[in-house]
Formats: sequence, C-alpha cells, structure tokens
Amino acid sequence: MDKQVERFKLEFPSKSRESDALDFLNEFAEANTVIHGSGGLDYVESYDEWLKKLEEDRVRKPTEQRVPAETYFLIRESDNRIVGVISIRKVLNKALWNFGGNIGYSIRPSERRKGYNKINLFLALCVCKNRGMEAVLIDCEKRNIASARSIQALDGKLLYEYMDEELGYEIQNYVIDVRHALDKFGDKYAPMMFEYPA
Ligand SMILES: CC(C)(COP(=O)(O)OP(=O)(O)OC[C@H]1O[C@@H](n2cnc3c(N)ncnc32)[C@H](O)[C@@H]1OP(=O)(O)O)[C@@H](O)C(=O)NCCC(=O)NCCS
Repeated sequence: MDKQVERFKLEFPSKSRESDALDFLNEFAEANTVIHGSGGLDYVESYDEWLKKLEEDRVRKPTEQRVPAETYFLIRESDNRIVGVISIRKVLNKALWNFGGNIGYSIRPSERRKGYNKINLFLALCVCKNRGMEAVLIDCEKRNIASARSIQALDGKLLYEYMDEELGYEIQNYVIDVRHALDKFGDKYAPMMFEYPA
C-alpha cells in the first residue's frame, strides 16, 4: 500500500502555540544548533514579546534599518506539530542585499532529512507570490549542503559566491524566480499542503 503523504501548512504564530513553540525552540538548544528564520524567537525575552515583534515586522514600513517581514511555523497535519519555521523579508535594504536575502528557515533537528524544508520553501514562495514578489534572493553558507539543495530543488540559480573573510567561510547567493518555481513544482507539492497560504 502507498505510504500516506504528509501534509503541511504555514501558520502565523499565535498565543495558543506558546508551549509548542518553546518545545520547538528547546530542541535547537538541546542539539546546540542555531535557529534561522524565526524572526528572533531565540533572543526575545518572552513569547508575548516575540508575537508583538512579529506583528510589528509584518506591517513595518521599510527603512535602511528595518524591513517588513512575515514569519511562519511549518505545521504537520497528522499531529499538528511545529516542524519548522520560515521568515520572509518582503523588501530588501542594502544590508540584506549584501547578506541575509529574502528568506531564512529552519527545520527542527528531529525532523530533518525528510524533505520538509523543500515544502517549507515552496509554501513560502506561495506567500511571496501573494505579496507580489517576483523573485527572491537567498544566501547560504557553501558548506550548508542541506540549505543549498533545498534552494536548488526549487530551481534556485546560483548568482555568485564569495569568501566572507570576517565570517571565515564561503557564502553562496541564489535567486529563485517565484512564478517559475510555483508553475514547475506546483503539481509535486500540491498534495503536500492542506491549506494554501493566504
Ligand atoms: C537547512 C535545513 C533547513 C534543511 O532542512 P531539511 O528538512 O533537513 O531539508 P530537506 O529534507 O528538505 O532536504 C533538502 C535537500 O537537502 C538534502 N539534504 C538534507 N540534509 C542533508 C545533509 N545533512 N547532507 C546532505 N544533503 C542533505 C536532501 O537530500 C535534499 O536534497 P535533494 O532534494 O537533492 O534530495 C536544516 O538542515 C536546518 O534547519 N538547518 C539549520 C538552519 C539553517 O542552516 N538554515 C539555513 C540558513 S537560512
């Protein structure tokens, strides 16, 4: 018999997810690994403060210092579990053009290598399309194979790579054509979503 396909949605964080979110965050701490794309969940004083910040990020007017962004949990339908997080910066300032790009993401350590970040990124591209974004810039450490392959899986094209002397490692910059990726991979990922992003 065919294995049941897992389905996912992106969910804007709310108060009702507080204990799940803290459990999610704790898993990164226990694995001693960094979290990317959480909009600051790892450095705020409290969950409530984080929710407030996410709402401010969502409606912010872009400046050279701060840009508008939307952060979502990736939720698995079968057990309603937070399996990942993703943050979409809807506008780039000069600093983000150089480093950071439009999208950052993480999958919780216990749920990695199951293809989840590819659906995470696909769903985020749906949000990007809904916001009128035609292309997204994503950068990643060259040695972060899982991140690079997630981007390549959505037809991300390598723009350039460089050695960041300050960080001490090589960075790759990719671009994804949003409409092209959604058209090309829509049939593949449609069965893996249970709510189309708003
Ligand atoms: C990067 C990250 C999000 C990938 O999540 P994931 O759910 O494990 O990735 P997926 O299972 O969707 O795999 C994506 C691709 O990477 C490959 N991959 C995943 N983990 C891998 C590993 N450890 N080594 C080699 N390839 C790997 C997969 O095979 C897949 O490639 P394919 O399409 O060619 O088969 C996850 O490792 C993570 O959270 N890392 C910490 C945060 C981070 O580095 N974020 C990126 C910076 S913004």
